[in-house]
Amino acid sequence: MRDAQPGNIYLKDYEVPRFLIDKTELRVEIGDKDATVLANLTMRRNPASNYQGKSLSLHGVQLELQQLAVDGRALSKAEYEVNGEELLIHRVPDNFTLTSEVLIRPRENTSLEGLFKSRTMYCTQCEAQGFRKITYYLDRPDVMSEFTTTVVASKSECPVLLSNGNLHDWGALDDGRHWATWHDPFLKPAYLFALVAGDLSLVEDSFTTCSGRDVALKLYVEEKDIEKCGHAMDSLKNAMVWDEEVYGREYDLDLYMIVAVDDFNMGAMENKGLNIFNTSCVLAHPSTTTDDGFKRVEAVVAHEYFHNWSGNRVTCRDWFQLSLKEGFTVFRDSQFSADMGSATVKRVEDVNMLRTVQFAEDSGPTAHPVQPAYYMEISNFYTATIYEKGSEVVRMIHTLLGPELFRRGTDIYFERHDGQAVTIEDFVAAMADVSERDFTQFMNWYRQAGTPRLSVTSDYDPQQQQFSLHFSQSCPPTPECQEKQPYHIPVSVGLVTPSGDLPLDAKGNTTQVLEITQPEQTVVFEGITEAPVPSLLRGFSAPVKLSYPYTLDQLSFLMGHDSDGFNRWNAGQQLSIQLMQALVTDYREGTPLVLDQRLVEAFAKVLAETDTDKAMQALVLMLPSEYLLAELAEVIDVEAIHQVRRFMCRELGRELRDTWRATYLANSEKVFEMSGAAVAKRSLKNLSLRYLLNGASDDSLSLMHTQFMEADNMTDRLSALNGLVNDPREEARPLSEQALDKFYNDWQHEPLVLNQWFQTQAACVLPGGLERVKVLMEHPAFDFHNPNKVRSLIGVFCNSNLINFHDEAGEGYRFLADNVIALDKLNPQIASRQLTPLTKWRRYDLTRQALMREELARVLAEPGLSRDTYEIASKSL
Ligand code: PHE
Ligand code: ZN
Repeated sequence: MRDAQPGNIYLKDYEVPRFLIDKTELRVEIGDKDATVLANLTMRRNPASNYQGKSLSLHGVQLELQQLAVDGRALSKAEYEVNGEELLIHRVPDNFTLTSEVLIRPRENTSLEGLFKSRTMYCTQCEAQGFRKITYYLDRPDVMSEFTTTVVASKSECPVLLSNGNLHDWGALDDGRHWATWHDPFLKPAYLFALVAGDLSLVEDSFTTCSGRDVALKLYVEEKDIEKCGHAMDSLKNAMVWDEEVYGREYDLDLYMIVAVDDFNMGAMENKGLNIFNTSCVLAHPSTTTDDGFKRVEAVVAHEYFHNWSGNRVTCRDWFQLSLKEGFTVFRDSQFSADMGSATVKRVEDVNMLRTVQFAEDSGPTAHPVQPAYYMEISNFYTATIYEKGSEVVRMIHTLLGPELFRRGTDIYFERHDGQAVTIEDFVAAMADVSERDFTQFMNWYRQAGTPRLSVTSDYDPQQQQFSLHFSQSCPPTPECQEKQPYHIPVSVGLVTPSGDLPLDAKGNTTQVLEITQPEQTVVFEGITEAPVPSLLRGFSAPVKLSYPYTLDQLSFLMGHDSDGFNRWNAGQQLSIQLMQALVTDYREGTPLVLDQRLVEAFAKVLAETDTDKAMQALVLMLPSEYLLAELAEVIDVEAIHQVRRFMCRELGRELRDTWRATYLANSEKVFEMSGAAVAKRSLKNLSLRYLLNGASDDSLSLMHTQFMEADNMTDRLSALNGLVNDPREEARPLSEQALDKFYNDWQHEPLVLNQWFQTQAACVLPGGLERVKVLMEHPAFDFHNPNKVRSLIGVFCNSNLINFHDEAGEGYRFLADNVIALDKLNPQIASRQLTPLTKWRRYDLTRQALMREELARVLAEPGLSRDTYEIASKSL
């Protein structure tokens, strides 16, 4: 528990480490009650440091020190002191061995950081600063060491003993314990350390690298999950081939291990040679996992694999550089997913997420640059900005350079910095060097928070045959910076006419990347013989909020004619958004709602298309979410947004009823298939069913019920369950209750499926949401210690159930604050993350603002609050 209030740590205060740790030898003995960690560190003064003093300061948290020795001589109490999270040894030589023995308590570790117990296994999580909960160390990413780790545990309880690198030696002790020694030849920072001890089953495969080396691939899971490993294994092999082909990166150890654990704060962790995964991001089987779940597994497996180069071989100098590895690796995994499936679908999914989650973060009190200048608790910085905006920034570099130069840039980056801990500036320097471009202004993307606004107007001069685009950029103030410098924005454009895209150069290219660098800038296209409709920001070439005075007819036109698939989708979204925003105004003024027939016509046209990818069709037919509308609103009017979106779904469902039914039937398959085409069909089918239900067609209940009962896969089953649960008709209630019971009974032994059962109920928009969630909190399958359960119930209710969470009485806010306070005592990282919806209080009406603030203040006033929750609560008030 803290006594003084924590302060910020600044990037400008960075200093090279005073000491280095060349070798790290650990012996971790896991007992019934606790564990002891014996560490032998080969250390020396860092020649690059100008520190002249004699003392050594090490990190350590919740360690019970048993012994401490320098060069084999035990230190007396007078020779060192422990102050909070620091161990200070008053005098050390220039070269020495530091030996320490500490006692730790993995069974009592509910923070899931350091060494902890999850169900039947012990495992570690060290990023960002969890290693200091295992032993005294220089726990910072620029201290890289060669690790040798011996794990000792009961042979019957923990037959499997793993750590990073290669298995070097093993044996049995005569007291029923056994041991294994692992050696990792690659230097790494402590955050990439891992160990696992438990009773696990193994799925094995192998991979031959491009240079002909054989790599053993091993997936460790609980026995019952052995059938759910195939997809992760295939994804891993696909990722290994892809990284060789696209980035020229080969795997470097003889062994690649993945372990699945049920209690995990994040999705997965890229520890060298020993990835640890949240079960939700590695296990997949059609009977338990939705199609979206399959895609997520593929993306996360690839992401962690790609980190072996972008993160591990070349790592971060300090945590302000977090996006160096995360932004780049998200970019790499998004390219991979695009290559494995449909590139446009992947782009639409990513941009949707960016616009709802990252844009909202970027305009709120926790907004921060991709390269932050300060933080209080680094765990709070694993954000959509660091990951997704960071990836967008790398994507812009890729757009500016083109694929060949970009690849030369990454080659140089990996070559120059292999084995080093570096900065975002080093990454950009490699790109600048290969392209001979000046990235000075571009760095604003890394250093300024906030989403730039790009306003565009145009005019056409038929006499001169000139079409001009006038750009004007600005960026609203954010907590760390009031006055923004202009950005270097790549804007990919095309000019569309009824007969197609106009050629924009002599080669006949129809897309051009404009580079907007000035606050105001005009670009003139010559030789334009008819007035085009501009297609702006194709492929979402920059993470900005674009505005152009499109008429509804121009948007419908682009929906049908733009050669850029992403912008066809986007035009549809903008069309819907314009209509929805107008209806929100009508709703507030008490004007009866009427749906513009142009939307119905546009939908009918899309439904009639036969040659489009069905997954794309489904995306075009999906209205913008309530949260996207909320993000765009001046003041979020919860009821208006909710009612307007429901109204539109209902009207579209009604007006196109027969088409939805025909589409539903045409895309229903007798036999389950996992192909991309089959996934696309399922998404269109289930969307159609949802519209039938929204339009309250008489047969929709029975269709839904039949689909639920007869589904042979989780996508169809869950989609039907969601429909039933959200159907407002009285006659739906008994069916919905029955379905929920049946679902529970059928899947009660599958934690991952129960997460989906909780999510479905937590997201139910019918009145009484909070009461339902409170009842579920008492359900025997709910577990406050398990982050997946917390996210599925509390997280989904507070982040994905706008109308119920924001109920005017404010009970939802009270509920969240109560839970954050309780969670903070167990798991600060999860607690502070759950607080996010309350931090957005400024966006709501005055009544809700007051209620939300009150609850935030109550959290902040809680004695003994963690640094994590303290930072978020204090920065938001
Ligand atoms: N580095 C992990 C990833 O993105 C995420 C993570 C962060 C996991 C912190 C655990 C703790 O791949
Ligand atoms: Zn990552």
